[in-house]
Amino acid sequence: MPDFSQYLDEHREVFEADLCELLRIPSVSADSSHQNDMAAAADWMLRHFQTIGLSAELIPTKGHPIVYAESPPVEGAPTALIYGHYDVQPPDPLDEWISPPFEPTKRDGNVYARGATDDKGQMLTHVKSGQTWLETEGRLPIQLKYLIEGEEEVGSESLDAFLEDRREQLACDVIVISDTSQFAPGQPAITYGLRGIAYFELRVSGPKQDLHSGTFGGAVANPLNALSKMLAALTDGDGRIQVPGFYDDVIELPAKEREQFAALNFDEAKFMEQIGVKAVQGEVDFSTLERRWARPTCDVHGLWGGYQGEGGKTVLPCRAGAKFSFRLVPDQDPKKVAASLESYLRSHCPLGVEMELIDLHGAPGVLVPLESPFMSAAAAAIEKGFGTAPVFIREGGSIPIVNAFAETLGADTLLLGWGLDDDNTHSPNEKLHLADFHRGIKASGHLWEELGKLKR
Ligand code: BES
Ligand code: ZN
Repeated sequence: MPDFSQYLDEHREVFEADLCELLRIPSVSADSSHQNDMAAAADWMLRHFQTIGLSAELIPTKGHPIVYAESPPVEGAPTALIYGHYDVQPPDPLDEWISPPFEPTKRDGNVYARGATDDKGQMLTHVKSGQTWLETEGRLPIQLKYLIEGEEEVGSESLDAFLEDRREQLACDVIVISDTSQFAPGQPAITYGLRGIAYFELRVSGPKQDLHSGTFGGAVANPLNALSKMLAALTDGDGRIQVPGFYDDVIELPAKEREQFAALNFDEAKFMEQIGVKAVQGEVDFSTLERRWARPTCDVHGLWGGYQGEGGKTVLPCRAGAKFSFRLVPDQDPKKVAASLESYLRSHCPLGVEMELIDLHGAPGVLVPLESPFMSAAAAAIEKGFGTAPVFIREGGSIPIVNAFAETLGADTLLLGWGLDDDNTHSPNEKLHLADFHRGIKASGHLWEELGKLKR
């Protein structure tokens, strides 16, 4: 594709400028004060699709709008549905950003901004590859359908109903998502497994107002003490989850897969250095990759209650709360986890305090088949785009809608990640390596070509 390569080379700056424009919009889905920004980001996507010559539509939902775009059908060739998200995680803690999260800044070959890798930059590679095909060849070798949502980071609640409603319009042979990572710098990967999630908020309340801990302490249950104990009861010292029945449906890792993980030669020392820890920790008898990719976990995300100000205050707080989640692996069911969790926590809730467990969202884990012509097409395209053949990995994050795609649309997903593990997703100083942005566009362009070689 000589024209294709030339067009990419000539448009590096423009493509980066387009990405920066989108990154400037603070589309934080979890925070209702960003409602207008969510609409602005959706509108940006809509106009962008229209500008490159696709028919596009904005679909309002109970939550944030969905943007849908498509190119014309290509007789005899498959159809790919590209999924991505324009919403981002909250940027806090703000004072830890070197440059502000919504002022994209280029440093050392990276662009720094919230959403750079997750998922605006990665998602946009597939839009730019479509644009390049249309500009250079005047057509696409296959039909592309783009489904870009604004609720991925908060559980994709509106998307299930949308898939059901639009089943026919969304009909496709394969789904393509770039919202994952390479195995290491210079080592691209295809991800065939993701963990699921079950996310909760736990609220504990006691006396009708804060009390003097000297006058009342020892005679009245302290909600913050109670909450700490309840959270501590979730796991043992090695991180094994103590909720009854939690492991019942866990598919154990086959020996062959454990060997494949080991053969990836994961650099544990580098991993520890990257995140700034002196030791790794987790379930006994599992390697770090196994713990991160194929074992369930429990993590507390936020914890509040009582006095946080300067100096000491002897208060017995009247309420406390926490947000926490379990990462799940196939075949665990988030609803089943929620039910057993609720009764487990009730059994650990002391007299004199009330608890409320809120099930915020859940999604099952994912395993996609490795043997398919689509997979081979993706591997070939990545090799052309990145100059290196991909390795096949699992990852520990979650993309809630992937299972629903298989169930509702009957199509498998290709998880082709252009990110890096040190991109600081969900953390301060999120970045995307710009070379990977351009390699991603190139690989994506080749993917449409490779898929075009497959007869429908
Ligand atoms: N891009 C991530 C998913 C991901 C992260 C895949 C790490 C592989 C490795 C995605 O945008 C994300 O963060 N998803 C959330 C989903 C949750 C809020 C339902 C996640 O995993 O926390
Ligand atoms: Zn994310």
